[in-house]
Amino acid sequence: MNHMDPQPPGRAGPEDSRGERSQPRGGEAQGSLARVANVICVGSGKGGVGKSTLTANLAAALAVEGKRVGVLDADVWGYSIPRMYGLGATRPMVSSERKIVPLDAHGIKVMSIGFFVEEDAAVVWRGPMLHKALTQFLQDVEWGQLDYLLIDLPPGTGDVSMTLAQLLPQAQFLIITTPQPTAQRVARRAAEMAGKVDLEVVGVIENMAGFVTPGGERFQIFGEGGGQELADELDVPMLGKVPLTMPLRLQADAGLPLVFEDPDDPAAQAIRQAARGLIAMAPIVLPTVAVSAAPLPTGPSPSTGLSLPMA
Ligand SMILES: Nc1ncnc2c1ncn2[C@@H]1O[C@H](COP(=O)(O)OP(=O)(O)O)[C@@H](O)[C@H]1O
Ligand SMILES: [Mg+2]
Repeated sequence: MNHMDPQPPGRAGPEDSRGERSQPRGGEAQGSLARVANVICVGSGKGGVGKSTLTANLAAALAVEGKRVGVLDADVWGYSIPRMYGLGATRPMVSSERKIVPLDAHGIKVMSIGFFVEEDAAVVWRGPMLHKALTQFLQDVEWGQLDYLLIDLPPGTGDVSMTLAQLLPQAQFLIITTPQPTAQRVARRAAEMAGKVDLEVVGVIENMAGFVTPGGERFQIFGEGGGQELADELDVPMLGKVPLTMPLRLQADAGLPLVFEDPDDPAAQAIRQAARGLIAMAPIVLPTVAVSAAPLPTGPSPSTGLSLPMA
C-alpha cells in the first residue's frame, strides 16, 4: 500500500515541498491545535514500562473528571493505542473542511497510525516521513476543543520525541518509570532530552510499583522508590504509584480501559489520583498551544494532501 485513505484529490498538503509552513513560528495558537489547552507527551526511557497503558487510562481518568480529552498515538512503530481502546483498524473519516476526524473511544478522541494500516501491519518509515506523519496528525486532525491531548511516545529519546518537541514547543512531558534503578536511569535520559528541547517536565508516574496478593501480601517485584527518586532529582511532582494488577493488563488487552470498567481497582485508583494531580497543577487557559513551523530533518518530502507517507 502506497497511500493512506483518507485522501482527498487535488489538495495541497499542509506544507510546501520543504515541509515548511508559512505561518509564524511559536507564540499564538494555530490550526487544529488552536483549541487544545494542554498537550502532554507521555514518555519513558525504556519500552514496556506501561506508557501506553497509562496514557489510555489517564485519558479515561481525565474524561471521568469531566475533561475533554484526546489521545495521539505517536508510537508509529509500536502503536498499541487502537487495541487498548478496542478500535482495531477502523479508518477515520475526512470532514468537509478536509480534516481527518479522530475516532471516538468512550468520548475520547483517538488518532493512531494503526487506523491507516492493515491490522497489526509493520510501519517502516525513515525520519522525514515520520516527521510528516506526525505533523499531519497534529495539523490535519480535527482535534476540536480539548482540555488535554495526551501523546503516547515511543520509548527512548529518538526521532519522534525530537520532532514533537519541535512541533509543540509548549507541550509538557510526563515521565513514566518503573521503581527499578535501571529504568529510572534510562528515564532520566528522557528527562534530559526534554530539558534540551525546552519541554517542561510536568511530573513522574511510577508504574509496576509492587504487587499485592489476594491474601494481602506485598511484593516489590521491580524494587522500590525509583519514581520518587527521579521526581526528587528533577524537582517535579511525583503524581502517582501505580501497582501491578492483573485487571489493568486484562482490560488493556480487552480494549476497555480499567478506569472505566473498574474504577476501584488499586491501579485505577492510582491513575485517577494522578489525573487529579495533573488537573490541579494545570489551570486551563485557552488557547495555549502553538504548532511551530518546523523544517523537515532532511530532503524534500512527497506532498500528497492528507495521504500519509507509507513506505
Ligand atoms: N501496572 C500494570 N499492571 C499490570 N500490567 C501492566 C501494568 N502496566 C503495564 N502493564 C502491561 O505491561 C505491558 C507493557 O505495557 P505498555 O503500556 O504496552 O508499555 P509501553 O507503552 O511503555 O511499551 C502490557 O502488556 C501492559 O498490559
Ligand atoms: Mg507503548
